Amino acid sequence: MVEFVITSDGSKTLYHPRIGEHYHSRHGAVQESKHVFLGMGLKHFMSLHHPPAVTVLEIGFGTGLNFLLTADHCHADGSDLDYTGVEAYPLPADTLAQTGYGDYVSPALWQSFLSHYKDCLTAPQVIGEGCVLQIAPCPALEFTTEKHFDVLYFDAFAAVHQPEMWTEETLRHVCTFLKPGGVFVTYAITGNLKRVLKSFGFTVEKVPGAPGKREMLRATKE
Ligand SMILES: C[S@@+](CC[C@H](N)C(=O)[O-])C[C@H]1O[C@@H](n2cnc3c(N)ncnc32)[C@H](O)[C@@H]1O
Repeated sequence: MVEFVITSDGSKTLYHPRIGEHYHSRHGAVQESKHVFLGMGLKHFMSLHHPPAVTVLEIGFGTGLNFLLTADHCHADGSDLDYTGVEAYPLPADTLAQTGYGDYVSPALWQSFLSHYKDCLTAPQVIGEGCVLQIAPCPALEFTTEKHFDVLYFDAFAAVHQPEMWTEETLRHVCTFLKPGGVFVTYAITGNLKRVLKSFGFTVEKVPGAPGKREMLRATKE
């Protein structure tokens, strides 16, 4: 049902024919993930707070690219990582194995991710030293947890294809899981998104986007 496409930085993404959209930027899947989620989200949070451990919530787990790059970075940095992905339509494990994302992270992380992926859909799994992954196989609006997170990666399909992901209701629901001081990042920026996040009391910033997008949004929960 999904098809692989090579993006401008040589990394692969998937095309979802029913939704009519790619899972990542065609200007570079790995490049986008590193810039938007790692650079503007995780590294920004770490540089402000220097915590020994970080908790990340991702809406739209998909192929796991954002998790893999985050886990690889945290391992190199000596930080523990507790990562929760929310995914309404989990991909089959054999599709993930064909992404080639093992080329961008340590071989041990890649192998551990592939072998634990199915179990992550039912319970948290230790993927490496100090690294735990859980994937909630449900729509964002049905996700619930006792946990609160430092960083929220909002990686939904674009509003033209999935407007229900960008409504005040969905954004309010997912933002309840952010800690005070927590950082929300997404690859897009629209007037509506800024207005909604400001109405939640977040400090909203327009920051440089990944190649192909001039700007993106970062917001901090006060
Ligand atoms: C832009 S892609 C995300 C790409 C992903 N972060 C990756 O690195 O592969 C959007 C993802 O949101 C998922 N999705 C669609 N509707 C959803 C919903 N209601 N709740 C949670 N995830 C949803 C899609 O199945 C898809 O995996």
